[in-house]
Amino acid sequence: MFRTHTCGELRLTDVGRTVTLAGWVQRTRDLGGMTFVDLRDRYGITQLTFNADSDAALLATAHSLGREFVVQVTGTVVERESKNKNVPTGDVEIIATALKVLNGAKTPPFTIEEDTDGGEELRAKYRYLDLRRANVRKGLELRHRMAIEVRNYLSAQHFLEVETPVLIKSTPEGARDFVVPSRMNQGDFYALPQSPQTFKQLLMVAGFDRYFQIVKCFRDEDLRADRQPEFTQIDCEMAFVEQDDILNTFEGMAKHLFKAILGEEFHEPFLRMPFEDAMRDYGCDKPDLRFGMKFHELNALTQGKGFKVFDDAELVVGINVEGCAAWSRKQTDALIDFVKRPQIGATGIVFLKWTEEGLKSTVDKFFTPEQLATWAAHFGMKQGDLLCIMAGKADKVRKQLNELRLHLGDTLGLRDPKVFKPLWVVDFPLLEQDEESGRWHAMHHPFTAPKPEDAHKLESEPGSVKANAYDLVINGTEIGGGSIRIHDRAMQEAMFRVLGFTDEDARYKFGFLMDAFEFGAPPHGGAAFGFDRWVSMFGGRSDIREFIAFPKNNAGRDVMIDAPSRIDDIQLNELGIAVKG
Ligand code: AMO
Repeated sequence: MFRTHTCGELRLTDVGRTVTLAGWVQRTRDLGGMTFVDLRDRYGITQLTFNADSDAALLATAHSLGREFVVQVTGTVVERESKNKNVPTGDVEIIATALKVLNGAKTPPFTIEEDTDGGEELRAKYRYLDLRRANVRKGLELRHRMAIEVRNYLSAQHFLEVETPVLIKSTPEGARDFVVPSRMNQGDFYALPQSPQTFKQLLMVAGFDRYFQIVKCFRDEDLRADRQPEFTQIDCEMAFVEQDDILNTFEGMAKHLFKAILGEEFHEPFLRMPFEDAMRDYGCDKPDLRFGMKFHELNALTQGKGFKVFDDAELVVGINVEGCAAWSRKQTDALIDFVKRPQIGATGIVFLKWTEEGLKSTVDKFFTPEQLATWAAHFGMKQGDLLCIMAGKADKVRKQLNELRLHLGDTLGLRDPKVFKPLWVVDFPLLEQDEESGRWHAMHHPFTAPKPEDAHKLESEPGSVKANAYDLVINGTEIGGGSIRIHDRAMQEAMFRVLGFTDEDARYKFGFLMDAFEFGAPPHGGAAFGFDRWVSMFGGRSDIREFIAFPKNNAGRDVMIDAPSRIDDIQLNELGIAVKG
């Protein structure tokens, strides 16, 4: 046997046994004639001990060990004199009787411990070493457990996992496609799926009824902490359902994951918040409900009193920051600097404080104390609170106040990663209009159906059409989303027309789907959840790269394998791609 035990399993009950372990040398220490070696594998760390009276050859081998050498050791388990309470194997050690170096190792470029000295780029280049660190490994173990729970849950609900192709034709989800040239069809390109959207709909036409897949998706878009160019979805679709059936099914999955992975139970149904309410009350379609500071609109109470900033504004809106009336000028100025940053682009904030001396605002010369008191009443403000009020164009000012609200949530420690506030945002508009071009875009994707009661307005009043489309939001992050789909050719054609496709273009790109709708397509709908995002949320970190074995960096590069990279002229020629100059 190569090994009898792992490095994580020996306990006091094993004392006296002869065991063989294999693993990596975490570190070695020489102390007064004794040599100690910490041996590490995926399961833990076990201490090996070499006595001064050990065999000379054995001692020489022990002294030759460097960090990350791969060794096989045999010895006897004994109780340790000085126990290490920090590791589960800390009560025992192994008095080594045989030691074999299976492979040497160069000194690693950073320390392979939880707190490493390696910078991001270095760790990415040597990701296989980074993955040896227990905390990184734990992230991937969490990912594995969640994938198993998802499969168990959905399988028990009669969902079938079906693999869909990776070399396909473009599926628009709002990003650019990654494309793959075809050698056998020169000049033609495959696109990598941004999602399996059209295939899962075709599986419904095929009668599969309940489909899911834990699947790679590819999107060529700007990267952020919660976005990777290739990422994983829990992709699902159901036939013969209404929106409620879908929400209930996946709420069940979410609750199952919370319980199985975090031991957290949600007895109440998740809140279902209409998109319009989310925008009005939180200024965004993915509100973080771990804390309050709901928006209150103040137009009626603030306009027409001679303060130009408010008088000229389409919207005057504020939040109540409880208990912060004592904030210094420096602190409130810092908030103004925050919203004035170019990424946010606001002009300022009006403050109203309620201190022991009463109400005091930064616009006292325009408003009487009685008027200020009406603002306070409108917010349900108490002594000790601070109002932050912003004004401007409605859409813009909502976005800006949302940023301020989240910033205050962070500053005041109200966004505890161990607290979870899930909700469904529902009733999204079907379309949104591009301000510059005036063109309509699908808010989710072009396969989302209008609500039946709005369908007749699709071409006449596209902006007023709502969809049975929904997002699952947890703690201000969009974890997933989906919709009831169009399953009728005429409706799909109308949708493409509204989106500015010519009939010919729509047929060229999506004829296969519209043809399928003519062969008995059942009513259907579904959702997809960002698996990396979900895992990282449960892991308490915001960077999804921590939970992806081999992620790309912020420039979309894999610095370990150095991709993307040039390909040689012969390959380009074979693909029929012109070689430059
Ligand atoms: P959507 O485009 O909303 O919907 O994607 C579903 C979920 O996938 C996650 N996600 C990402 N995660 C990491 N990196 C990315 N670049 C990235 N892009 C998206 C998000 C998102 O909520 N086909 C539809 C679903 C449907 O209608 O059934 C779709 O793909 O968590």
